[in-house]
Amino acid sequence: MHVWSVANQKGGVGKTTTTVALSSLLADRGKRVLMLDLDPQGSLGSYFGHAPEQAANSSFEWFVGPGRLSDQALRQCIQPTAYKNLMLVPGSTALATLERSAVTQEGMGLAISRALSKLWDDFDYVLIDSPPTLGVLLINALAASEQLIVPVQTEFLAIKGVERMLNTLQMVNRSRRHPLPFLMVPTLFDRRTHASVSSFRYMRKTWPEVTWQAAIPVDTRLRDASSQGVTPLSLDPESRGVQAYGSLLKTLLKMEADRLAGTVEASHA
Ligand SMILES: Nc1ncnc2c1ncn2[C@@H]1O[C@H](COP(=O)(O)OP(=O)(O)O)[C@@H](O)[C@H]1O
Ligand SMILES: [Mg+2]
Repeated sequence: MHVWSVANQKGGVGKTTTTVALSSLLADRGKRVLMLDLDPQGSLGSYFGHAPEQAANSSFEWFVGPGRLSDQALRQCIQPTAYKNLMLVPGSTALATLERSAVTQEGMGLAISRALSKLWDDFDYVLIDSPPTLGVLLINALAASEQLIVPVQTEFLAIKGVERMLNTLQMVNRSRRHPLPFLMVPTLFDRRTHASVSSFRYMRKTWPEVTWQAAIPVDTRLRDASSQGVTPLSLDPESRGVQAYGSLLKTLLKMEADRLAGTVEASHA
């Protein structure tokens, strides 16, 4: 099982869209995929018709103390979607209460890692849609992940926020054995606007090794898909947005393959 988190402390940059687009592409390739909504706004769950006011059978239930989550309770939260191989754990507004209360509780930063470790054989990929705040939810997502994807809107204010995300990552890396690999993904790119083009150039120049070489364009088909509650892939597989996410997925799978090869090499050294 591979766990990828999609995170950025800014809202409206394409986190949920990226989670759905990549997940549906992986599912379409025959991978068993779980989308996990850790955002108290519950946008990922809402996308697929689940009301965020509901705490029952949402990711909120996975946040109990060590050893207290029964297998049945764990699995009850996993909901089917209309798509083959694509499952979902919806979010809930109740998640917000955890941000305030749970930080000091023993082992609370690893609740998601613990839950996912019981599903190791059930899924090939887990994609986590993270909240836009630095707190116990984001810490949980990053602790459980082997890859971080940071969508960054190609616009000046959004770029300024990147530093904040990088600081968070640095903090999280201090408690990890290996630094968390990450890729910044320029989003909502509009090549006709100066702001988009110069933001993209700035990102490539400032963070060349960790910025994806391409960008996700502004594509109204992505917005249409979200308002209709269908995956972008099923709405329009030929759309520019889906094509761009397909190419992003290729990059991420290449990163993953390179990492695995590195691990094998290291163990033979
Ligand atoms: N590449 C894109 N082109 C057009 N609209 C987009 C694109 N990416 C996201 N959107 C739209 O922008 C809004 C915010 O995106 P969303 O993925 O919900 O961001 P976040 O999860 O970071 O808050 C949504 O209405 C979504 O449909
Ligand atoms: Mg979102």
